[in-house]
Amino acid sequence: MSEKRYTTTDSGAPAGSDDHSLTVGPNGPIVLHDHYLIEQMAQFNRERVPERQPHAKGSGAFGTFETTQDVSAYTCADFLQPGRKTEMMARFSSVAGERGSPDTWRDPRGFALKFYTDEGNYDMVGNNTPIFFLRDPLKFQHFIRSQKRRADNNLRDHDMQWDFWTLSPETAHQVTWLMGDRGTPSTWRHMNGYSSHTYLWVNAEGIKHWVKYHFKTDQGVENLTDDEAARYTMTDSDHYTRDLFDAIAAGDHPSWTLHVQLMPFDDAKTYRFNPFDLTKVWPHADYPLIEVGRMTLHTNPVDHHTQIEQAAFAPSNVVPGIGFSPDKMLLGRVFSYPDAHRARIGANYQQIPVNRPRNQVNSYSKDGAMRVDPVSDPVYAPNSKGGPAADYPGQPEPQWAADGEIVRSAYELHAEDDDWGQAGTLVREVLDDAARDRLVSNAAGHLRGGVSEPVLERAFEYWRNIDADLGSRIEAAVRAD
Ligand code: NDP
Ligand code: HEM
Repeated sequence: MSEKRYTTTDSGAPAGSDDHSLTVGPNGPIVLHDHYLIEQMAQFNRERVPERQPHAKGSGAFGTFETTQDVSAYTCADFLQPGRKTEMMARFSSVAGERGSPDTWRDPRGFALKFYTDEGNYDMVGNNTPIFFLRDPLKFQHFIRSQKRRADNNLRDHDMQWDFWTLSPETAHQVTWLMGDRGTPSTWRHMNGYSSHTYLWVNAEGIKHWVKYHFKTDQGVENLTDDEAARYTMTDSDHYTRDLFDAIAAGDHPSWTLHVQLMPFDDAKTYRFNPFDLTKVWPHADYPLIEVGRMTLHTNPVDHHTQIEQAAFAPSNVVPGIGFSPDKMLLGRVFSYPDAHRARIGANYQQIPVNRPRNQVNSYSKDGAMRVDPVSDPVYAPNSKGGPAADYPGQPEPQWAADGEIVRSAYELHAEDDDWGQAGTLVREVLDDAARDRLVSNAAGHLRGGVSEPVLERAFEYWRNIDADLGSRIEAAVRAD
């Protein structure tokens, strides 16, 4: 028989009652020294941390990544060497909704991974789309505000969304993708994850390749129609959260196979598309997928708050063998996430167990609210007192060359760079007739949701720039009502 556990206060002493406050007689007032009642009320009032600004609604699970192939010619990252198995976690999310918002609203989905490697945590903070709406981080804050709520009535507003999108033609590829079938995945288990950004890999000899990650679902890609998604929104707004938890609890462990596209370092200058422009893919025919390994999610959280809500993913968490690229969005994100975590969870967020590296941390960071790891002397570097020194023997952080005037400017264009071309390819060459019909219906339905003139006119022009026929069909569908 298991030992019976008794309730305690947070300081571990036996609690007086699970039912009754301390009062002066059974009907009398509550006394101030009922510290257990006060502890219950005070802790309750402090249960929430601020929700993530974007990506507030989400959930996740824990698993293992196994490197099944040999990519040592491209990266010396320890966890990507053949046969390595690495503990990891994943959090999936939607972007615009709040913490309690429905899972099935049309939106990109976050695909955030944390690998607890022997060389520090590696975070791959991607989405279920290979591209993004923007190519300059200055516009990100404005974009997210346009997707969230108005100032006056606190409502989401399609007029505001299309106003921003049509004034920002670089959004065309991602908006086309979003209005298509993959804008409403059937579950998180049935969607792919992409780094979207280009990163830099370096091997043990110092040879560098640009890299994009594609985590392909082994469950197969499956999507909901607009109507099916709307039904879930009404009947089970936590559908994705429930599906992931129940599948893992039932022993049906979802997995994804990691592939990469690799571009030799020097190709970047002359490639037909700017390989660092986040609104563009690298066509598979130019850079085919190379298999790397597989991640499997096998363990559910036991406490959503400490293990998922307090999980802090950061594109700045890279490990030896992996670096950044000159993608301006990525470089903006490298600053933004640790700043968000400090604001949302606190300065010592990396000491919370879910964020804590599994390898030894020898940092010189010190003190601050909620620090739990003791600091020891010497507390400065360099020192002659035997403290750690930054003399890691492996490859240094991989970098690239840059020079020029300091300017505020768009990227210089590569031969085939424009805002519409790849969106048009998606419409004409990837979608079939039925998928194009659904795209017309989804886009027209969205535009019928309160978009005013002249934003509507701009939206038809936007779609015609992507594909003339598609634009005409969307306009006809909207005007038909
Ligand atoms: P390919 O024909 O080689 O690839 C097309 C890819 O499109 C597929 O592999 C699949 O990606 C993806 N796809 C299939 N159905 C849909 C859909 N309904 N919505 C969105 N994506 C879908 O062509 P290219 O590589 O030349 O790319 C052509 C277009 O395909 C691009 O402009 C882009 O819009 C889209 N695409 C390209 C990707 C890339 O990395 N090259 C990745 C995803 C989309 P997957 O295999 O990843 O499921
Ligand atoms: C979450 C900023 C672009 C994927 C967040 C958060 C911020 C942020 C502040 C909340 C972090 C937190 O509180 O924990 C930005 C900025 C961007 C940008 C400034 C562009 C300049 C992107 C892109 C992707 C992406 C391009 C995908 C490729 C995510 C994901 C999360 C997230 C998946 C949720 C992580 C989690 O599950 O905790 N972003 N973002 N973001 N972002 Fe971005």
